Amino acid sequence: MQEELNKIKAEIFKELKNIKKEGEKISATIVNDLEIKILGRKGELSKILRGIKDLGQEKRKEFGKFANNIKQEITEEFQNVKTMLNFQKNEKKNFFDITLQGDYVNKGSLNPITLVQNDLENLFSTLGFMIVDGPELESDYFCFETMNIPKHHPARDMQDTFYVETDKLDLVMRPHTSSMEVRAMKVYGAPLRCVIPGRVFRNEATDACHEHTFNQIEGLMIDKNISISNFKAIIQEMISGIFNADVKTRLRPGYFPYVEPGFELDMSCTICNDSKNGCPTCKHSGWLELGGAGMVHPHVLKAGNIDPDKFSGFAFGFGLERLAMMRYGINDIRLFNSGNLKFLEQFR
Ligand code: FA5
Repeated sequence: MQEELNKIKAEIFKELKNIKKEGEKISATIVNDLEIKILGRKGELSKILRGIKDLGQEKRKEFGKFANNIKQEITEEFQNVKTMLNFQKNEKKNFFDITLQGDYVNKGSLNPITLVQNDLENLFSTLGFMIVDGPELESDYFCFETMNIPKHHPARDMQDTFYVETDKLDLVMRPHTSSMEVRAMKVYGAPLRCVIPGRVFRNEATDACHEHTFNQIEGLMIDKNISISNFKAIIQEMISGIFNADVKTRLRPGYFPYVEPGFELDMSCTICNDSKNGCPTCKHSGWLELGGAGMVHPHVLKAGNIDPDKFSGFAFGFGLERLAMMRYGINDIRLFNSGNLKFLEQFR
């Protein structure tokens, strides 16, 4: 009997050793089945143990102790194997391989126009300017009438305006952000410092420098004794805040019915940096027009309920696309709205 028990023990330890070697490949049911086969009520070991009662008293005592020790050893070994298998499973569940490459997250990016707009808003905020917003579908009154451009005035042809067919209202898609000047004056009065970024629309053929839908930033500063010097100082701040490079600007006389005197502001072309021969973007002039500006016309101040005898001010309207083109060296305005990912991904 002792021999038989040692044999069972040797066999079962051998099998459990193999199971330990195989590790996680072994399913829990195989171990359980084996345990039942040996230690279960009808198992091999139990059968032998049941035979102990038939032995003589002396032998029963000696063999009983031996058999119980064997049973205990086998039971403990089963327990060890089960604990090990469980441990391996849990370890697998919690395993986190820090050397594995992560999933690629396809992040979007801001359009360069938005980047320039954000920077301009920050810059003008630090100079004490409010950021004001206004309607894109606008009345003829705020786009033209209040801006010293009555009906049938030839200056209405300066922009190719999209007129909107309505029965009662005189509505247009605003051709410039100047439509917000009188609105801002009426709401906030004088003194006033504000910038108004926004989309504008013109019925124009597109080319490398022109879009039918583009963005402008309007600026307005009204106070006592405001002069062209104030305008030049503010514009210098703006240009040095937006461009790190050494950028030249120049003012040329320009006509806009809502300012007197009026100017055009040009900056040196950063695409070619060539004031002699230029490039297609600057139409071979070496200069790119950023926008118009001037001292606000007294008629406009009056339309905004501001007394022109007490207050004066300057206004400007610059193209955001042109600023972005010069800042990032973009040679075609049509790229901004092209949805071209290769273009947009560069601004991450
Ligand atoms: C105006 O729109 C005036 N309202 C600016 C102004 C404001 C003058 C306040 C005086 C006082 P202009 O039409 O020149 O001006 O347009 C201003 C700028 O917008 C241009 O210099 C250019 O940078 C940009 N721009 C004009 N047309 C287009 C276009 N089709 N595509 C892209 N940018 C344009």
